Amino acid sequence: MAKKQTAKIIMVSNRGAYNLQATESGIRPVPAISGLVSAVEPLLKEKGGVWIAWGGREAPRKNATGLRLPVPQDDPLYSFQEVPLTAEEIELYYNGFSNGALWPLCHYFLEKCSYKAAEWETYVKVNNKFAEAALLETTEGDVVWVNDYHLALVPSIIRNRQPKAKQFFFWHIPFPHHDLLSTLPWASHILRGLLGTDVLGFHLRSYADNFLNAVASLLDAEVDFEHNTVYWQQRCIYVGAWPMGIDYHNFRRRAMDPATVSRAMALRSQFNVERLALSVERLDYTKGIVEKLLAWERFLDKSPKWRGRTSLIQIAVPSRTAVPAYRLLKEEVEAVVQRINHRFGQGSYRPVHFFWQGIPRQELVSYYLAADVMLVTPLRDGLNLVAKEYVASRRDGSGVLVLSRFAGAAQELKGAVLVNPYDLDGMAALFTRALNMDREEQEKRMRLMQERVRRYDIRWWLGCFYQAMMAAEREISHVSES
Ligand code: G6P
Repeated sequence: MAKKQTAKIIMVSNRGAYNLQATESGIRPVPAISGLVSAVEPLLKEKGGVWIAWGGREAPRKNATGLRLPVPQDDPLYSFQEVPLTAEEIELYYNGFSNGALWPLCHYFLEKCSYKAAEWETYVKVNNKFAEAALLETTEGDVVWVNDYHLALVPSIIRNRQPKAKQFFFWHIPFPHHDLLSTLPWASHILRGLLGTDVLGFHLRSYADNFLNAVASLLDAEVDFEHNTVYWQQRCIYVGAWPMGIDYHNFRRRAMDPATVSRAMALRSQFNVERLALSVERLDYTKGIVEKLLAWERFLDKSPKWRGRTSLIQIAVPSRTAVPAYRLLKEEVEAVVQRINHRFGQGSYRPVHFFWQGIPRQELVSYYLAADVMLVTPLRDGLNLVAKEYVASRRDGSGVLVLSRFAGAAQELKGAVLVNPYDLDGMAALFTRALNMDREEQEKRMRLMQERVRRYDIRWWLGCFYQAMMAAEREISHVSES
């Protein structure tokens, strides 16, 4: 393992850069593709350290120790440390509390929330497991960076055991208004857990404000709204808003690759229509897939001239299939796709091509290049990096991004055609507008968005954390001196 002299990073998240798959010849690490991985892995590779995560598999035995892998295997820059979870823990902590309570709650789907004491207890237990694993790795001066709603209690567990640990926390999904949050019987525990950190980051100012308001109303803590800080247990916590960026130049390079370009041309001739629309997302009810398909159906109803001339490629990546709401959604989506294709399909023409599968990044860029219109229409989304990836990949400046106003990215991507996914007629009308947009307007809007995505890229995002951390250190010494 390459030795680094400087402080190392202890990255902690439910899912890491690898999922561990059992094969006949042993455990095989399969790279995981996600915004989180592409955002933080370069930092780990540069600074060295450990990534602590669940490997996505069921632990072989009850008290199994987690696997440790050097990454990359041939020339290690950091280590991946598995936190093994039993079948029961996966069910109660991951499927249960994380994805059956916190996920719908934070996305404003109160009717989908189920609050169960056994799930909460396992969430507490598993958060302790992750914190233990992090503590084993941390020496003074290291930075512990914890991610997302699965691990809200980890910062305070670490703080109690190592009061001087430097900690970041980034919450990657929306943070709900406290009226909603307070329906959760353990809301104040979640807030107290997060306040163990030094710096807490959200994508949007409104999420950070929701957090500050929740702290002010549910905890006995002093909140300074002007300086975005909370004073809690003789410590000062900075709460910031930094929308995550992407590696813009990496997407540009991929989009220039001749193999990617010729694959995009092959896709165009395979789907063989005048205008191609594309959607790519995990199969999740928050993504508004059914609503988008219904609006696509209305658009074809109202615009007969587009029938036979445009198709929507809907790529839905399988996700959380053990959670009933996700299984039901798949059936619902398939039924709507079937109906639309039955109503408007003719010969080899299909108005919707539905794929239930993941797609490697390089192939994805070919799809981005092939698509005249990109539909990103979630009912609620913390940010949405796909929208930014599409923008970065459009090397010739053409293409139209149709974006839900309830995606965090809508605050930044002002050149998008903004839609309300709850208004199906309105969305259908804007699909027509997007498909008819002339090249001049496309380029004008795209340039505006490309400039934004290029400027506020992943390096900018990581830099924000460092600055905030340094500012927090100054603040901490100021508080302890006074
Ligand atoms: C969201 C969350 C991530 C999560 C991802 C995929 O983006 O913010 O933390 O990893 O969804 O979900 P999964 O349940 O497959 O990890």
